[in-house]
Amino acid sequence: ALLLFIVVFILTADYIKNRRLTGFPPGPPALPIVGNIFTLDHKRTHESMTELAGRYGDVYSMRMGQRWVVVLNGFEAVTQALVTQGDSFSDRPSIPLYDDIFHGLGVILSNGHMWKQQRRFALSTLKYFGFGKKSLEPMILEEFTYVAKEISAYKGKPFNPHLIVNNTVANIICLLVFGHRFEYGDEQFKKMMKLFEQSIQIQVDHFFCEFFSGFLIKKFKRINEELKDFVRTEVKDHKQKWDPSDLRDFIDYYLNEIQMVTEKSFTFDEECLIMSVLDLFGAGSETTSTTLRWAFLFMVKYPEIQERVQAEIDSVIGQSRPPSVDDRADLPYTDAVIHEIQRMGNIVPLNLPHVTNRDVHLRGYTIPKGVTIIPNLTSVLFDKREWKTPFTFNPGHFLNEEGKFVKPAAFIPFSAGKRLCLGENLARMELFLFFTSFMQHFTFSMPPGVKPVLDYRFGITLSPVHYEICAKPRHE
Ligand code: HEM
Repeated sequence: ALLLFIVVFILTADYIKNRRLTGFPPGPPALPIVGNIFTLDHKRTHESMTELAGRYGDVYSMRMGQRWVVVLNGFEAVTQALVTQGDSFSDRPSIPLYDDIFHGLGVILSNGHMWKQQRRFALSTLKYFGFGKKSLEPMILEEFTYVAKEISAYKGKPFNPHLIVNNTVANIICLLVFGHRFEYGDEQFKKMMKLFEQSIQIQVDHFFCEFFSGFLIKKFKRINEELKDFVRTEVKDHKQKWDPSDLRDFIDYYLNEIQMVTEKSFTFDEECLIMSVLDLFGAGSETTSTTLRWAFLFMVKYPEIQERVQAEIDSVIGQSRPPSVDDRADLPYTDAVIHEIQRMGNIVPLNLPHVTNRDVHLRGYTIPKGVTIIPNLTSVLFDKREWKTPFTFNPGHFLNEEGKFVKPAAFIPFSAGKRLCLGENLARMELFLFFTSFMQHFTFSMPPGVKPVLDYRFGITLSPVHYEICAKPRHE
């Protein structure tokens, strides 16, 4: 009888605590305690969530364990929240898996004063090193020569591009934050890359649901402590060689900021530096390399598109010089293909989570303060109301009738509003320079007898399952 009483008590308490209040967005019925965990197909959560919008509307709610989540779908609803009502929707929720390890420091997971200062600093330093005094353009082009050498060594035979592309892109962030690149074979670099990959291979569901994250916290803590140690060693080295008259990279600049701190309200210290560096790696490496790995796959799946890109590059740039960002305006078809790769690749399928920081009204619903918000980017990049052929690879989405490049408003793979990806400009520069360089130098194809498969692995990012590819050099 006591057991029965406890069960009835828990279920009643759960019902009272978790019932949908009047005005709250509708959604699928939730089970006691676990909520809607079993409503979703966790191998394709983003598609499950998009499908639910067909039944419950563009703004619906569901419960992940004990946490209420409101999922926003389609261009209109997502931008109304993130842009028009951005002040109410721009904070990050608490995420049990991360809180203990990151303590809300850095850019990605912070809020309020800390977030404002760290974001502003990261943006201005990125601008300075990426596009200002020390443009990253020549560094990206130089990095391409290393990766081209590596790929040429396969002499057109099948290889798995996964690690090679990851290393290439990671080196750009290394140049930015550490001021130096690593050889691809460097043991320490290889270890760091593996740890980053493990840390990003986390199901988005684990963000929200204590049931899942409980099992993972120990493993996740170990991975991230090792990563922090790696960055700590770099910081130590930078401190020894630090010269305020010659600030070489992000870490040097940050150390300078720490030195200048006089006010108590400043959030710059060494722990926060380490977190910001990890943020730049976490957000800036896997994302761009995953996009490039999708690019190879789309090019082998649609060889006629690859050929047309190569023809455009040959006529505008030729073979005697590397591409430059200034060529973009003269390469509308190539530019459209890169954008369509990003749209179809859909590499941050559910965006990063947001939270309401006050009670808000959105499209006729009332959402109280503290509710986790998922601005579903999949539903925007494949929104039937915005794209002519949403599920077909079609560079025409980004070209007008005269063949000029145009960017529809619903192209928001970097999100929108106050939390807009702060590496967007860098990512766009990298994608353009790497993609055009690859197309200038190689023709990609599947190994003989193998068909391209566009399968993905769902996590924070949507990455293609490992595949092998052949890269035939176009010229000696
Ligand atoms: C945030 C996409 C590359 C740094 C984000 C968000 C998305 C995104 C969807 C979440 C925005 C939101 O919460 O509303 C991408 C894509 C990339 C890319 C698709 C490449 C193709 C980069 C690069 C860097 C970077 C190269 C830095 C070097 C960041 C940071 C945030 C962020 C620091 C957190 C911003 C904040 O919370 O204020 N990115 N990103 N990203 N991204 Fe990127």
